[in-house]
Amino acid sequence: MLTPLRIPTPYGPTIVADPPVVLAPMAGITSEPYRRLCRRYGAGMSWSELVSSSAMILGGEKSQVKTRQLAYFSEEERPVAVQIFGADPDMMRQAAALIAQTKPDAIDINMGCSVAKIARCGAGCLLLRTPQLAQDIIAATVEGAAQFKVPVTVKMRAGWDDSCITAPEVARRAQDVGAVAVTVHPRTAKQAFSGHSDWSVIRRVKEAVSIPVIGCGDVVDGPSAKAMFEQTGCDAVMIGRAAMGNPFLFANVVSYLESGADAIEPGVEEKIATARWHARELAGLKGEHIAMQEMRKHAAWYSKGMHESARLRDRLCRISTLAELEAIWDEALEVAARYGALETVS
Ligand SMILES: Cc1cc2nc3c(=O)[nH]c(=O)nc-3n(C[C@H](O)[C@H](O)[C@H](O)COP(=O)(O)O)c2cc1C
Repeated sequence: MLTPLRIPTPYGPTIVADPPVVLAPMAGITSEPYRRLCRRYGAGMSWSELVSSSAMILGGEKSQVKTRQLAYFSEEERPVAVQIFGADPDMMRQAAALIAQTKPDAIDINMGCSVAKIARCGAGCLLLRTPQLAQDIIAATVEGAAQFKVPVTVKMRAGWDDSCITAPEVARRAQDVGAVAVTVHPRTAKQAFSGHSDWSVIRRVKEAVSIPVIGCGDVVDGPSAKAMFEQTGCDAVMIGRAAMGNPFLFANVVSYLESGADAIEPGVEEKIATARWHARELAGLKGEHIAMQEMRKHAAWYSKGMHESARLRDRLCRISTLAELEAIWDEALEVAARYGALETVS
């Protein structure tokens, strides 16, 4: 039996992620409809895409609309954390208070993102170079969120580079100022996504704190999830890239962890039905134009392994309307039927 992730909070209710296999935040990918899909296929909890604290506080009308969309979550998703980033404690305090009014299960602070736009303003993984500032930011966020009794978690990388592995120290400081859980993706900022994540850092963080630790990095299937639990002692595993276009992965990983057997892979019909639902819901949330731009990569990922997928992908990458997308899926179904592969694992 899998032990659910339990995150005690100072406000009464414990956050319970059951099963302890959760979906990673991924900007441009893990919007609300996709998170809901992953939850339906077995993810125990999800994190929103990252939201800028300064855009929330100082942004004009257009960026306010965008941040509201990014921070939106539905009841069906719970437990869910909304992730914010910033380098100014006061701005983080204000942003946390605003988000906390919408009552997510947690507010998560991003200390892992290394993209230039975020690092340039001193946020994301840059904070791992300055543990005191990281601590001040966490303390301010906890203070802002406390106004509406919402707990705070932190997601971090291992450190800045090989000579600056600060995750254990930052996790300890986070715990000291009231964070209720931490997630560790143990690559350095300098590494970006190259090489393999160093799971020994997750173990070191686990040894440094008593709050729950979620491990993240290179979990791609049941055996790798099991290995991460065993090698790090983490309380939950978080999956990112392997779930792109593959919300079904969660059923597989959970089934493997529970019984050693993979769940049955979805056939082409189920994959396409899922992809259609995803696109329609995303259009409802973000409007057809933006949704279809975002959907291009998802659709290409969903089509992986289907018959004539290279030809399909070439068109899926250029869709601009829902009708176009639906027509391509109709055709994909016809192709699969021609190959007698409708029900089969693709
Ligand atoms: C396209 C993309 C976007 C990401 N966006 C975020 C983000 O908004 N916030 C965050 O904390 N991590 C973000 N990450 C990092 C993931 O949450 C995760 O830590 C990382 O991909 C390692 O896990 P994996 O090996 O399972 O993919 C992103 C990763 C990718 C590939």
